[in-house]
Amino acid sequence: MEVIVLPTAADVARLAADVIERLLTTSPDPVLGLATGSTPEPLYQELIRRHREEGLSFAHARAFTLDEYVGLPAGHPERYAAVIRRGLTDHLDLKPEAVQGPDGSSADLLGECTRYEQSIVDAGGVDVQITGIGSDGHIAFNEPGSSLASITRLKTLNALTRADNSRFFSSAADVPRHVLTQGLGTILRSGHLLLLATGGSKADAAARAVEGPLTASCPASIVQLHPHATVLLDQAAGAALEHGEYYAEVWANRPVWQPL
Ligand code: GLP
Repeated sequence: MEVIVLPTAADVARLAADVIERLLTTSPDPVLGLATGSTPEPLYQELIRRHREEGLSFAHARAFTLDEYVGLPAGHPERYAAVIRRGLTDHLDLKPEAVQGPDGSSADLLGECTRYEQSIVDAGGVDVQITGIGSDGHIAFNEPGSSLASITRLKTLNALTRADNSRFFSSAADVPRHVLTQGLGTILRSGHLLLLATGGSKADAAARAVEGPLTASCPASIVQLHPHATVLLDQAAGAALEHGEYYAEVWANRPVWQPL
């Protein structure tokens, strides 16, 4: 695990974009893992900018999203499938059919979870998985208590997450109670896990994920178990870290030949 604390959220976005650019320019068949939420938005804007201004191409890439609300009607703007199209993939040369997500309006939700998990396996797995972190330490929609070995399944959101996400709906009561989400085991199988957190409201969750115990009570603590995890934080999100000075020293002395 590598923890990198950068001055601003824009620096986090640029470094995360460098990781994705490297994958896109070195792999003939790159598979991206995409997250929703506000945190990756500057990263997505940076990727769109590099596509438009620098010719960074996504035409050969495929992508899988982490999670989806259950029961939002077709055309609802807060379906994560719509959010990711609006915020990223519509603005790239990624083929629409190359972007997959779990279908939260399937008539067979349990079968849909099995199908989605298998589609990730069939694609050869995710190469770089972007994630944010919830203020309760959740990752994707794996709430505290999620099995560390879980795969894609139905979950019930807790009150804090529904309150946090109510800013996208008319009220907390309108936030769906159920979701489909990749499991912690699914995320652990990604080739490179890139966890992003920005802003002071994430400082406590980020410190628990990175320096607390590996525990289902803080699902994002799986960054400690992943064989190749990079945690990118801005100053505010890194403010509660105990070993911040050491992370800064590692970053300042990083060998130039060592990729993230
Ligand atoms: C939602 C998403 C998560 C995301 C979290 C934090 O619950 N399912 O993937 O990490 O929100 O969102 P934000 O980045 O907006 O704080």
